[in-house]
Amino acid sequence: MMRIDTSQFLIRVLIIFCLAFNSLEFVPEDNYLIDCGSLENTSVGDRVFLADSLNSSFLFTPEKIFINANSNSIPSTYGLALYKTARIFNGTSNYTFSINKKGRHWIRLYFFPFVNQNFNLSTAKFSVSAQSFTLLKDFQPSSVPTVKEYSLNITENNLVLTFTPSTNSFAFLNALEVISLPNELIPSGAKTVDFGGGNRNLESLALETVARVNMGNEIVPPGNDTLWRFWMSDSGFLSNSKLVLFVSNVGFVNYSSGGVTENVAPLLVYGTATKLNSIADERSIFNATWLFPVDPGFDYFVRFHFCNILNPAPDNLYFNVFLNYEFAAKDLNLSTVGVPYYLDAVTRLDNVDQLSISIGSTNALNTVSNGILNGLEIMKISNSQGSLDASDAKIQPRTTTSNSKSKVWVCVGSAIGASIIITILVLVSVLVCRSRRHGHVVQSTLDQYSISGFKETAEKCLADFGANRPAMGDVLWNLEFALQLQGCDQRGENNEQSNDHYTDISASTAQYSLGSVGDLAGVSMRRVFSQMVRAENAVDHSRKDTSI
Ligand SMILES: *[C@@H]1O[C@H](CO)[C@@H](O)[C@H](O)[C@H]1NC(C)=O
Ligand SMILES: *[C@@H]1O[C@H](CO)[C@@H](O)[C@H](O)[C@H]1NC(C)=O
Ligand SMILES: *[C@@H]1O[C@H](CO)[C@@H](O)[C@H](O)[C@H]1NC(C)=O
Ligand SMILES: *[C@@H]1O[C@H](CO)[C@@H](O)[C@H](O)[C@H]1NC(C)=O
Ligand SMILES: *[C@@H]1O[C@H](CO)[C@@H](O)[C@H](O)[C@H]1NC(C)=O
Ligand SMILES: *[C@@H]1O[C@H](CO)[C@@H](O)[C@H](O)[C@H]1NC(C)=O
Ligand SMILES: *[C@@H]1O[C@H](CO)[C@@H](O)[C@H](O)[C@H]1NC(C)=O
Ligand SMILES: *[C@@H]1O[C@H](CO)[C@@H](O)[C@H](O)[C@H]1NC(C)=O
Ligand SMILES: *[C@@H]1O[C@H](CO)[C@@H](O)[C@H](O)[C@H]1NC(C)=O
Ligand SMILES: *[C@@H]1O[C@H](CO)[C@@H](O)[C@H](O)[C@H]1NC(C)=O
Repeated sequence: MMRIDTSQFLIRVLIIFCLAFNSLEFVPEDNYLIDCGSLENTSVGDRVFLADSLNSSFLFTPEKIFINANSNSIPSTYGLALYKTARIFNGTSNYTFSINKKGRHWIRLYFFPFVNQNFNLSTAKFSVSAQSFTLLKDFQPSSVPTVKEYSLNITENNLVLTFTPSTNSFAFLNALEVISLPNELIPSGAKTVDFGGGNRNLESLALETVARVNMGNEIVPPGNDTLWRFWMSDSGFLSNSKLVLFVSNVGFVNYSSGGVTENVAPLLVYGTATKLNSIADERSIFNATWLFPVDPGFDYFVRFHFCNILNPAPDNLYFNVFLNYEFAAKDLNLSTVGVPYYLDAVTRLDNVDQLSISIGSTNALNTVSNGILNGLEIMKISNSQGSLDASDAKIQPRTTTSNSKSKVWVCVGSAIGASIIITILVLVSVLVCRSRRHGHVVQSTLDQYSISGFKETAEKCLADFGANRPAMGDVLWNLEFALQLQGCDQRGENNEQSNDHYTDISASTAQYSLGSVGDLAGVSMRRVFSQMVRAENAVDHSRKDTSI
């Protein structure tokens, strides 16, 4: 009986084939899908959101309150069934999810404020936090079905999600997802486009998806995305749609040839694009721009998705990419056809509530120029208070010349504020003293530049409102930047000994600016300060040595 008959053989082949095929699909190791307030499981596409249950082991809430929407009151939308029920939290409530895979997870919160005989969900007002991050503060959901998406790097065994009703109000939730992400999706850092292109570490920060856009004027529904993302169409964000053309060539996309997988962005994102409309005038150099509404006072992580799907394929494809009017890439070479590619960058938005993205033709390489963008993701980065809510934004003041006396008092009211001021004042006076002693022309220009940096930081410190004052981390970051400018000047003029001291300072302030606000108070601040003074003395010594 050693013979395996044909049908058995075919079944084995089929099993192997199915296993291989399944392994291409992403299966999250942590995968919590809950249809809140529902007595039944709800299928959405290929996923099942589980019925909410009284004895759900991971939820603490004062009282079990499930409610249903009146029939037909929900606008047609993806995952419609999830919005028909909700759970009410009439006191502080928390979910504790046990986490199997350390690393980035998405938390997706579904909100639709319907009205039924007992509750008007539009009157709800509440805050939501996850681990130590504030996701939403005194939040009132908009009147359309909304999914809020956050990503957190979970390094503990549990993820705790807390709902806190505002005074005399309640919280609600229609549905919830907590899923682990593929490792390749979100990097541990990205380069900044402003401030000289340093790297911004993201490892321990929370992100909120602000916009996820498919270029080419087509939406991509979650059913066509391996990670169930929704991609909006870009046409509504274009500042001048006459300058572009929409293209679609899904068959050109070749994932196998690049490192980029479908988890990074799906076929329909890389297979459609918006390109510069260079037909009208092939010689003209111009930009196409998309504008996105964002909360000012936060840093933003931006991912650009590219794939050359132009038909006929040009011999060369070079163009510029701008984020907030700064280069994200200069003369980007996208000449290879069909290879998905992405570019990450971080920018800071201080006083404006629009984030600007442009692609622009270039004449740098003497080729017929065009430009292309396939997809875009914009994520808000949690600030030094660990918050993503607009009410915690660090908005910088415009002018600070008048009534500065009262401002000084406000700032001195806080111990941290006071130590910032003292440090800055001492640093400024040290610099001023020194520029008096050595007054080369070149040096005084550069000094002036870094002193103005200190001055700017000091002014920000004196803002009337706590929320407008810079965070400790931001202050140190600015100081570090000013010190580096100061260091350049030293290098031009002095021996190598002095350079080393300045390198030390930058390293130490960089270290502190990575820590939490708590770490920065008191002793650490004193250490930064004393190191600066020590280095300052050493530089002065070496100056004397060389001048002898
Ligand atoms: C919902 O689905 C889960 C998992 O598939 C199953 O264990 C449970 O019995 C289902 N519950 C209901 C109410 O259908
Ligand atoms: C809920 O309670 C029922 C009955 O007490 C029990 O059989 C079931 O396992 C519980 N489910 C969970 C998720 O705790
Ligand atoms: C929640 O509401 C119920 C009545 O609906 C009430 O008995 C209970 O005390 C409330 N709990 C809190 C914490 O307000
Ligand atoms: C969750 O809420 C319960 C009840 O209010 C509280 O005892 C518990 O400490 C909370 N858990 C966490 C992790 O905050
Ligand atoms: C529900 O509350 C909102 C906000 O207070 C209000 O504008 C709306 O009229 C209320 N709807 C009903 C049916 O009471
Ligand atoms: C998550 O945090 C850990 C510990 O800080 C770090 O080693 C890891 O690189 C982080 N992961 C990501 C994706 O940032
Ligand atoms: C998108 O999803 C629809 C519905 O599942 C399917 O028919 C279609 O083939 C998908 N398109 C692509 C390009 O995957
Ligand atoms: C995709 O790229 C691979 C590797 O570069 C190449 O071997 C293959 O021919 C390409 N497929 C298509 C359809 O272009
Ligand atoms: C394109 O945008 C960049 C960044 O705002 C700007 O510097 C450049 O001058 C623009 N190019 C043209 C041709 O307008
Ligand atoms: C641009 O990319 C193409 C294809 O990879 C390559 O042949 C060409 O040398 C690149 N041009 C430059 C200037 O690097």
